[in-house]
Order: sequence, then C-alpha cells, then structure tokens
Amino acid sequence: MFTIFPDEQALAKQLSQELYTSLAQQPKLSLGLATGSTMLPIYQELIQLHRTQPLDLTQLTTFNLDEYLGLSPDHPQSYNYFMHQHLFKYLPLTTEQTHLPQGLCTDVEAQCAAYRAKIAAVGGIDIQLLGIGSNGHIGFNEPLTPFDSITHIAHLTAKTRQDNSRFFTNQAEVPTRAITLGLSEISQAKKVYLVITGQHKATISAKLFASQVTETLPASILKQHSNAHIYLDAAAASQLPEEVQAQLLASKKILC
Ligand code: GLP
Repeated sequence: MFTIFPDEQALAKQLSQELYTSLAQQPKLSLGLATGSTMLPIYQELIQLHRTQPLDLTQLTTFNLDEYLGLSPDHPQSYNYFMHQHLFKYLPLTTEQTHLPQGLCTDVEAQCAAYRAKIAAVGGIDIQLLGIGSNGHIGFNEPLTPFDSITHIAHLTAKTRQDNSRFFTNQAEVPTRAITLGLSEISQAKKVYLVITGQHKATISAKLFASQVTETLPASILKQHSNAHIYLDAAAASQLPEEVQAQLLASKKILC
C-alpha cells in the first residue's frame, strides 16, 4: 500500500508516532533498522518522542540491515557509526540490545550465519524500516538478488557505489562489498515500512509503483507482502501517474 505525505517531515512524524505506539504496545519488539539520509528525520522524531514521552525500552531488540565490509565500527562512513551518531547515543539502549553486522571480520560467512541465528532466536523481525536505492535495492540487495536470499555478502553495483560516494571523499573509497540481510529475511518481517523521500527518488518510485513483482527491482518483493507500507513524500511521488497524484491531493491511501 502506497501512502503519500506532503513532505518528509510530515511523513517522519506519522511514521515515528506509529513506531512509538507499537513500542508502547509491544515492549518486546524486534525492530529492523536502516541507515541512509532518508532515515534521519525519522530518527530525530523518535529521539524527540522519547524525550517528551519516555518509554521503557529495556526489552527492545534492534537489528540493522547492512554494513560495508572493510570499514571498522568507528569509521565515519560505517553504518555502525551512523547508528550510534544518529540514534543509539540518544536512547537508553545497551550494546546487547542493538545488533549490526560488523565490517571487519575474518570469517564473514560465519558472521552471516550468526546474524541470521540471532534474528531467528527472537522470533524474526516484527517491524522492518527500509529506504531504497536509486536502482531499487533494499538493504544492499541489488537488482537480480534472488528473492529467497538470506543474510549474505553483497557485491555493490557501480550505480550504488556512485550514489553512496557522496558520503566519501571519492568513489574509489566506497567499499565494493557489504553484509546485508537477504530479501527472504526482510520480507518475513511481520510489518514493513519502505520510506521514499525526495525528488531524486521520483524515478524509482514511479518504477516501483508500475512494476510487477520481479527480481530486477528488489523492492517490488514488498508488493506481495500482506503488511508492507510504502510511504512517500510528495517530491518522491511526483512522477507517479496523474490520477495517483490527484488521490494524493485527496490524501487517500492507494492500493497497488
Ligand atoms: C544504502 C543503504 C540502503 C539505503 C540506501 C538509500 O545503499 N544500504 O539501506 O536505503 O542507501 O540511502 P539514502 O536514504 O541516503 O538515499
């Protein structure tokens, strides 16, 4: 289901409130977290909510989607560092509660297996947050990743490395590989939010809206999920069909 919000701030407010309500109702939640600029307003809203209406988070468990291979957790472009800087340091969470793949490790396959096992041990992911790459990737599951993939080593496409080079000094510095949750694990989450914001995501949003479920567009796997919510801001929705834009003005949810 697609929902369109006037701007990313309105989207972040709504989504963080929904997450917070879920946390209040189900303290033992297993939350799948994502990185990327798209998540920043959502994390800021969550931090603000926790400041004004603190919740007991001691039973919460979080699992991040992915991490670059080759980067240490204190590397400023690592996803471990991102999560600490933008969310974890503001919330009363212990290191035992928050899980991320590690970019520096000698046996990556063993780490993938251990990560899968940790998620399975808590009964899978209850709510998964996702952003999207301009080529339709979710996590680091690039186009043509099999839908039945599990946590694995992903080889990043030139497009993804180019997109993500804005955070590095140059493209050569962007790692070529990452650990990512697989599409099978992501789509087994009980509830999924895919967040798409900004004009630069308008083309992939329109493609996703029109697409069949296909491995060429990894995010399309969510179209067969019974509880997936695709939240767009108006800029990201700007290339959707006109009738959809009209429904946007009427603030209706669109099933697709
Ligand atoms: C990276 C991450 C994705 C994220 C994507 C988009 O490739 N692996 O999880 O969705 O970037 O990031 P942004 O939100 O900065 O556009």
